[in-house]
Amino acid sequence: MKHITCIEDLRQLHMRRVPKAFFDYADRGSYTEQTLRANRADLEAIRFRQRILVDVSKRDLSTTILGEPASLPLILAPVGLLGMQHGDGEILACRAAQAAGIPFTLSTMSICSIEDVAASVDKPFWFQLYVMKDRGFIKALIERAIAAKCSALVLTVDLQVIGQRHQDIKNGMTVPPEWSLSKLFDFATKPAWISGVLRGKRRTFGNLMGHLKGTDDITALSSWISTQFDTSLNWKDVEWIRSIWPGKLVLKGILDVEDANEAAKSGAQALVVSNHGGRQLDGALSSIEILPEIVEAVGSQMEIMFDGGIRSGQDVMRALALGAKSCMIGRAFAHGLGAGGEAGVAKAIDLIRNELSVTMGLTGVNTIAEIDERVLADSPRGHNAR
Ligand code: FNR
Repeated sequence: MKHITCIEDLRQLHMRRVPKAFFDYADRGSYTEQTLRANRADLEAIRFRQRILVDVSKRDLSTTILGEPASLPLILAPVGLLGMQHGDGEILACRAAQAAGIPFTLSTMSICSIEDVAASVDKPFWFQLYVMKDRGFIKALIERAIAAKCSALVLTVDLQVIGQRHQDIKNGMTVPPEWSLSKLFDFATKPAWISGVLRGKRRTFGNLMGHLKGTDDITALSSWISTQFDTSLNWKDVEWIRSIWPGKLVLKGILDVEDANEAAKSGAQALVVSNHGGRQLDGALSSIEILPEIVEAVGSQMEIMFDGGIRSGQDVMRALALGAKSCMIGRAFAHGLGAGGEAGVAKAIDLIRNELSVTMGLTGVNTIAEIDERVLADSPRGHNAR
């Protein structure tokens, strides 16, 4: 991993090492991918204020996330099918996160189950919940997360209806993979991926198999989701989940101030400003565009987390400057996993850690708590010369 200098390098390796259908599943977005692009473009447009001759010799990236110490303000976001990017992907990513001192979030749609991951790591991890129509199953799933000592429940609220991702349809993205001649050629050029996946514990959805009807054969993922996921989900259900989950609750997928105000009344400790990485409502605002308004509305009542487009430590700095307390990364670590398993995820975290440290140094900041709008060149409070 010596010549890997940025997340894009990991992305290129991921593309070479993993079959196209799974790489595209991670990399692409919904419909025209307008929101996917806006997440990146709007972050990149935020410029820093270069400061000099400030003693930055004691930079410290540590912080707390949901009251727990973390070595930097970063969380591995819930990402489905990690075990299809690399055999046992969820376990490897969780180990890399824990070794780096940051939280890992296991998706409902993971390949390794809650129990598989809990048995393979030392510390608690977070669990992400998608709510399906079968409420008995959901209650049991929450109870499994409690039994596994998960330290937070992340309720994803932006996927009642699934955003169409054209490329998944074109690639015939199925789980487990469906064979076609072109896929066979593609897979034949990725022997390391095949042997990793074959050595992995599972090749289908670990949290669902044997627990939920109709999971023996989930072929077309999006059509399965559209029959199982509960489109009637509403704030009353959040109350129900709040009543059965005793621990910390995070609402993920808030992109609107009115919804944020509602979230603040829900009993959740935190929310994630997110558009699901441009995979759901195409044409929605970028996450960074709405972040300041949500911070202004509910930042004093809830912990505000952010995701969407983070590919570097500079991006983390931008979101923190606009009021986020921590950031989730999805693709940035999924690329690391596809590129090099546990070491690849560790590399992704390390790259972001170092970039954040350098950016703090060059903007004259020593601690995470000090980062605010003053580090930005174009914010009214940030620019003292114009
Ligand atoms: C996701 N995301 C996601 N979110 C969630 O709550 N449950 C899930 O199972 C998934 N699955 C998933 C798969 C893949 C391949 C991606 C890329 C994303 C969304 C994820 O948690 C996060 O919101 C975005 O990834 C953030 O955007 P970036 O960091 O990928 O730009």
